[in-house]
Amino acid sequence: MKYPYQINSMEEYHEAYKNSAEKPDEFWGEVAENFLWRKKWDKVLEWNFKEPKVEWFKGAKLNITENCIDRHLETMADKPAIIWEPNNPEERTRIVTYSRLHKRVCQVAQMLLNNGVKKGDRVCIYMGMVPELAYAVLGCARIGAIHSVIFGGFSAQSIADRLEDAKAEFIITCDGAFRGGKDIPLKSIIDDALIGNKTVKKVIVYTRTRRPVSMLKGRDLWWEDEMDYALSQIEKNNVVTMPATEMDAEDPLFILYTSGSTGKPKGVVHTVGGYMVWTTYSFVNVFQYQPGQVHFCTADIGWITGHSYIVYGPLAAGATSVMFEGIPTWPDAGRFWDIVDKYKVNILYTAPTAIRSLMSYGLDPLKGNDLSSLKVLGTVGEPINEEAWHWYDEKIGKKNCPIVDTWWQTETGGVLISNLAGVTPSKPSWATLPLPGIQPVLVDERGKEVTERDENGLLKGNLCIKAPWPGILRTTYGDHERCRKNYFATYENLYFTGDGVLKDVNGNYRITGRVDDVLNVSGHRIGTAEIENAINMHASVVESAVVGFPHEIKGQGVYAFVITDKKHSEDELSKQDILETVSRIIGPIAKPDKIQFVNGLPKTRSGKIMRRILRKIAEGETENLGDTTTLLDPGIVDEIKNNKV
Ligand code: WT7
Repeated sequence: MKYPYQINSMEEYHEAYKNSAEKPDEFWGEVAENFLWRKKWDKVLEWNFKEPKVEWFKGAKLNITENCIDRHLETMADKPAIIWEPNNPEERTRIVTYSRLHKRVCQVAQMLLNNGVKKGDRVCIYMGMVPELAYAVLGCARIGAIHSVIFGGFSAQSIADRLEDAKAEFIITCDGAFRGGKDIPLKSIIDDALIGNKTVKKVIVYTRTRRPVSMLKGRDLWWEDEMDYALSQIEKNNVVTMPATEMDAEDPLFILYTSGSTGKPKGVVHTVGGYMVWTTYSFVNVFQYQPGQVHFCTADIGWITGHSYIVYGPLAAGATSVMFEGIPTWPDAGRFWDIVDKYKVNILYTAPTAIRSLMSYGLDPLKGNDLSSLKVLGTVGEPINEEAWHWYDEKIGKKNCPIVDTWWQTETGGVLISNLAGVTPSKPSWATLPLPGIQPVLVDERGKEVTERDENGLLKGNLCIKAPWPGILRTTYGDHERCRKNYFATYENLYFTGDGVLKDVNGNYRITGRVDDVLNVSGHRIGTAEIENAINMHASVVESAVVGFPHEIKGQGVYAFVITDKKHSEDELSKQDILETVSRIIGPIAKPDKIQFVNGLPKTRSGKIMRRILRKIAEGETENLGDTTTLLDPGIVDEIKNNKV
């Protein structure tokens, strides 16, 4: 498979960028010609950011799984689509060729139909990183069911909220998941999530860990039984036929929940046509993927990175994608490097937090690995500090591999700002240039475009995007107004990212982090309000305030200031109780790193918590806390400062 839209030089980048901005319809229409459509579009793009309404390839008909699988069968049936590395390195590897992937996805699709799943129905997927997770996702897409994958680190309560919001009728899960030394009881967590649930009709359970699980008659089914039966229906003389459902380009493909600065997580909705074009286009260009190469994205499919760069982007490009069940530090901190050598990985895409964590083990875990197959390295999820960048460059890339620092979001579907590996220059800790189709603007608090450079020649502002690209979110599930308010109302006619940014004289962008009340902990987004709500659920907690603080490995840590009713002692044990509560309400990923019991919070006379002051205290600042005279009780600041943990 060749990619006519692959950019090969700086000149080609400039040309593509210019064309995409001046003639977007022509530009994206041409890119889209490289996909399999049952019917071509009537119009490439129709949009306004006021409602917002964004429609790409309007009128076109397709099925994304025919693009990710069927169209490769003629020439690449025996080529590995997915290489699966188990948690336990002693266990057998599984190599899933494109023809095997086709068979399994067709089976899942038939299995779903057999169980009453129809186009547009929501299927919640809560599984570990096994190939069956990819089959489940693609099986939904094949019949037009909307998948909503939930990361295995979320609690029963979080799942229950998402099931309710999505009005999901079906769940696909596993008995358990192996992650490092742990065996996470996924089915049992699902059982808890289903207490009181009114929408879910069927739960399909794939056997991975063979731990005992409860199976309710009429609701719970074994994946293995259902898949066998489905195969008997669709396979004749060793040929599998299972037609894909014809979808409109703007039909929803999936919902993925993500945190914001207020309220419960929102269900970000991506649609079939634009998302397919954007993930594939960005995959091929950012990583400069060449046919035959092995791509290893270390993310979990429970996050957007896994959706876009383990499953959809690579498969639509006919690539070989490595899927890893375990964690980077088990059985030891050399696991990634072993995998790179074992499968001769050419592209490694991971998170700065993983790099920093592996750095902390020194160079011993690298002994015996030659890593010479690597051609391109990538990072995603948070700003990468220069120290980690250089370690990645020198120790992993041996100064031979371009590093792409890819900035994007759940809402953007795929990468928006990044260098193109080996084609456009990299700059440590800078995401660098926008992809064709992306028109960033820097605005100040009031929404005025920033034009004045500071003494270093930099522009500084809030990052917005001027016009839609094919992968932009279309709505937040069940609540379009929330989508408008969140992303399109802060600044008129602009998509607001929530990130702060710097721009240098050469047009490079450096993302400085969130400007809203959203934390980025180990590359995972989590709202401070959400954590506060969870802490406040604890019986003895009266009020709390959560802020981020710089954390050596996680990037940002969670610092919680907590007021209790003083009925019980405020000790280590009561802190553990609070952590347990947060684990129950959100999941272990949201647990505060530090808890400080306080007698009051710095509030203005109108009752607003001055987070700026708390942030400074959490960062260890003792002197310049800014103006505290407007506080209701300025004395509280000293008290909090003196008792910092
Ligand atoms: C937020 C989005 C994109 C998939 C993983 C996270 C931060 C992401 C970078 C980067 C600096 C980055 C931003 C963004 N972020 N990539 N290369 N440099 N910051 O997806 O959970 O939707 O979070 O992650 O703050 O807004 P997400």
